[in-house]
Amino acid sequence: MQRNATAVGGARGSDHLLRRVRPRGPLSAELADRLTAEPQPLPDLESLAREAVTDATCTLTDADIQLSLTVLYELHYRSFDDIDDRWEWHPDLMGAAVCLEAAFEGDLRALVAPRLPADPVAPAGVADALADLVTADDSPSLGKHLARHGTTAQYAELLTHRSMYHLREADSHTWTIPRLAGPPKAALVEIQADEYGSGRADWMHSTLFAVSMRGLGLDDSYGRYLNDVPAITLAWANTMTLFGLHRRLRGASAGHLAALEMTSSLPNRRYADGLRRLGFDADTTRFFDEHVEADAVHEQIAAHDLAGRLATAEPRLVEDILFGAAAALAIDGRVAADLLTAWASGGSLLGSASLPVTTISANRGDIDLVSSSRG
Ligand SMILES: [Fe+2]
Ligand SMILES: [Fe+2]
Repeated sequence: MQRNATAVGGARGSDHLLRRVRPRGPLSAELADRLTAEPQPLPDLESLAREAVTDATCTLTDADIQLSLTVLYELHYRSFDDIDDRWEWHPDLMGAAVCLEAAFEGDLRALVAPRLPADPVAPAGVADALADLVTADDSPSLGKHLARHGTTAQYAELLTHRSMYHLREADSHTWTIPRLAGPPKAALVEIQADEYGSGRADWMHSTLFAVSMRGLGLDDSYGRYLNDVPAITLAWANTMTLFGLHRRLRGASAGHLAALEMTSSLPNRRYADGLRRLGFDADTTRFFDEHVEADAVHEQIAAHDLAGRLATAEPRLVEDILFGAAAALAIDGRVAADLLTAWASGGSLLGSASLPVTTISANRGDIDLVSSSRG
C-alpha cells in the first residue's frame, strides 16, 4: 500500500514559531530567560559566553554554545513567538555572539585543515579544487544505507535533524547575495531562485521538505524539534548562518553552497529510492526527486559561475571558498557518521537530553519551567 503524505501527516502547529527552548547550560538558560522581556542591558552575557568557550572542549559538540548560537541567529531569521524584534541588534547580544563565533570558526578551521590543499590554489583552479575536495571526502554514505536498509523511523530521524535548516531552505546563503557583484552574484541568484520555487510557493524547497516531513509523520512546525537534536546538528545549521551573516566570510558561504550542491544529486536519488521502497507516495519523495534534477544543474553553476567567478573577481577569497566547502563536507560527514553509528546499535541521536523545558511565553512576560524527560 502506498503511503500518502497528507494522510500520514503529523500534528500541525504554528507555521513559524519556536515555542519552547530547553536550556542546555548557563548561557542558553540566560538567553531563554532574558529574551522574553523588553530589550534591556545584559552586562553579564558576554562574560557567560567567554566562560562557555573557555570550558568547552570543542564548540562543535558543546550543546550550550551551539544552542546559544542557534537562539542568537534565529533572531535574524523568523525569530521566536512574541520576542521583541529589537533584540536582533542588541549590543550585548552582539558581544556574546562575537565571542562564540570566534571560537566556533576557529574550531571549524581546525577541523577542516587536513582536508585542504597543501599548496596554494590559483583562482582559475578553484572549480577543480572543489571537485577534488568532494572526491576526497570519505564520509560514510547515509544515502547508500537508507536506499537499501533505511527504516521509516530512520528517515523520520534524518528529516528531524535536517529540519533545522531545510524548513528555511536557502535563507542562510541568500544573505551572501548583497555581498557579491557581477557574475557570481547572478549565479547565486539563479540558484536561490530555484530553491525558492521560481516564484511558486508550493515548489519552494522548504515547502517540499515540510510535505516530506508530514509524509513521515512528523510535525513540520518551524523549530519544532529544536530541543531534540544534538549539538552537532545545530553546528551543521549554524555553520551556514555564520558564513551567511558575515561579509568577511562571503567566500566561505559560496564554497559551502558549492559543496552542498556538488554532493546533493546522487544522495537525494538514493533517499527517494529508499522512501519508494518503503511505500511512500510521490508527495513525500518530491523534495528528494526535485533535488536530483535541480542540483545536477546547480552544482555546475555553483562550482564554476559562483565559486569560480568569485575567485577570479576576488583572488584573496580562494582559501575561504575552499574552507567553506570543506566545512560543509566535514560537518555533514560527522552527522552522517554519528547517525549510522547510533542506528547500527538500534539507537538514535534524538532526545538524549533530560532537562526541564522552558516555555517562552511572552504574553505573560515570564517563563514556565515544565518538568519533562523529553522535548
Ligand atoms: Fe534545494
Ligand atoms: Fe540546489
